[in-house]
Amino acid sequence: MRVAVTGSAGGVGRVLCPALADAGFDVLGLDLSLSTTLRDDGRTEQRVIDLLDRVAVFDALAGIDAVVHMANHPNSYAARPPTRVYTDNVTTNTNVFEAALAHGCNKLVFFSSIQAQGSTRMIGDDPLGPSHIPYLPMDGNTPAYPTNYYGLSKVVGEQLLEMHCRLNPELAGVVVRLPYIGGEPGRPMERKLDEVRRRGWQKFFSADEGFAYIPPADVASLVLALLRGMTPGFDRVLAAVNDNQFSLPAERVAADYFAGVEVRQDLSGRFTLIDNAPITRRYGWEPTPVQRPAPVPG
Ligand SMILES: NC(=O)c1ccc[n+]([C@@H]2O[C@H](COP(=O)([O-])OP(=O)(O)OC[C@H]3O[C@@H](n4cnc5c(N)ncnc54)[C@H](O)[C@@H]3O)[C@@H](O)[C@H]2O)c1
Repeated sequence: MRVAVTGSAGGVGRVLCPALADAGFDVLGLDLSLSTTLRDDGRTEQRVIDLLDRVAVFDALAGIDAVVHMANHPNSYAARPPTRVYTDNVTTNTNVFEAALAHGCNKLVFFSSIQAQGSTRMIGDDPLGPSHIPYLPMDGNTPAYPTNYYGLSKVVGEQLLEMHCRLNPELAGVVVRLPYIGGEPGRPMERKLDEVRRRGWQKFFSADEGFAYIPPADVASLVLALLRGMTPGFDRVLAAVNDNQFSLPAERVAADYFAGVEVRQDLSGRFTLIDNAPITRRYGWEPTPVQRPAPVPG
């Protein structure tokens, strides 16, 4: 199977492309620049392209069986003015989906963001205010609630893919909402709240996101599971590792940052407010278990 990966030179692309090649896929990496760290493995071709160029995108996606579409401005500060984050992302997404479909490609994976669900209530806010998240743990059915141009661009991308799935019964389309991408597989992140406050980073941590994260290697294993398991129709998933950036018990994050929100599952013993069970059920994927030091007896 020949898979186009847009954003192949980016943080996730540089991990995902080799993982796909190792799994036997032929990979076409598309980006504004070539990645010097992608090895020449005989299965990965890289091409420089601006995905805002509709004609170039149609040309590049001929003969592709599946597209993993990641190339976007990856946050609301990534372009100025912020409206450009919105207009560029929407144009890129429109071009990629249209061109893939025109060439008969019937597997599309779109990288969305947890910011599609809202990114307000920064941890420095006083008062923090009530959460708009309707229930915990969050999952792919958590309602869209964009609060910046980036989040809005992701919601529009999600709806665009859903529309194409509605109109094309043979198309399998999966939206992956991702939290902060970082960390090492299996190792707790253990940021310190007091250090974040000391450095003045409070404005970067939205309580709405539950401080969730996922390492790039886990994103790669998730995409592999999706490509192998996706079936015609539309699906949307939200994925994270069983940890949060502050390594706080999920019960404590819920109590401190989501007062009054309905809790639908027993959170005891958990470290994430994201429910991965639907992905495990549908695609057999589980994140790398996070190893924690055993509690000291006594
Ligand atoms: N990094 C995170 O914490 C995070 C969290 C949630 C979701 N996401 C989403 O995951 C995806 C990948 O994120 P990342 O961290 O690898 O981002 P990144 O910025 O490292 O990589 C994105 C790549 O897309 C390319 N790109 C952007 N516009 C392009 C265009 N017009 N034509 C061709 N290439 C273009 C860039 O050159 C870059 O290499 C993005 O869609 C992002 O929105 C990222």
